[in-house]
Amino acid sequence: MNRTIDPATIISSLGAYLEELRESGVDGFPVDAAGSILRDPDSRAVPAHGEKLASSAGAPPETLDKIRKNLGECQRCKLGSTRKTLVFGTGNPKARLVFVGEGPGADEDAKGEPFVGDAGRMLNRIITAMGLKREEVYICNVVKCRPPGNRNPEADEITACSPFLLRQITAVKPDVIVALGKFASQTLLETKEPISKLRGKFRDFHGVPLMPTYHPSYLLRTGGNSDSFWDVWEDMVQVLRLLKLPVPDKSRKTGNSSSG
Ligand code: URA
Repeated sequence: MNRTIDPATIISSLGAYLEELRESGVDGFPVDAAGSILRDPDSRAVPAHGEKLASSAGAPPETLDKIRKNLGECQRCKLGSTRKTLVFGTGNPKARLVFVGEGPGADEDAKGEPFVGDAGRMLNRIITAMGLKREEVYICNVVKCRPPGNRNPEADEITACSPFLLRQITAVKPDVIVALGKFASQTLLETKEPISKLRGKFRDFHGVPLMPTYHPSYLLRTGGNSDSFWDVWEDMVQVLRLLKLPVPDKSRKTGNSSSG
């Protein structure tokens, strides 16, 4: 027997669904000339672990500008209500190398740019030591809004933000990704392995080689000539070799090492 649903019920369920979308930050749908709802890039399936990033075959690749616009004044998770500035990413939109950190801190939240505080100065030092300029690489974070009190981002916040990180990486199409620190490395690789075990070996991130390494903040704590500092340098040497770029000659100063 066919059950018919009365139109008032359909309209009321649709209304509730639209209200739910509005509350989660969706503030409109692009509509084509025929009036049909176009597919929002937001709804792209997030590739499963091990699956390649969406190729641009057929369609022109998305631009970072478009992804930023699509984020808008994002309220897709609770960090939207406490952040000052959404920190999207910075650098070369066609970079061969992308650095991914955890999430903005107070300095980044104030300035709207990733890695601009003390950790940023350490990251700049690493980039310069590699013979590169900050403007040549692309820098972003797992989450785009500052977690209050610099706590770790929570699962629902990562879930809301990761489609945008994936879209950024797909748009930049880097040859290599460096995951900075335990949090970014474990999140991107979907593992609980400690950073001390993860670092130093390339892993696969949806078809792109990813090098996990220590976070610049950790190096600030261990010191500029610590064992961890030189571990990061060794990781960056592997990155430069993979990119077929010259490896600047650095030699470790002795007598000032820390256990890190
Ligand atoms: N730490 C991060 O992980 N990201 C930033 O942008 C700044 C500090």
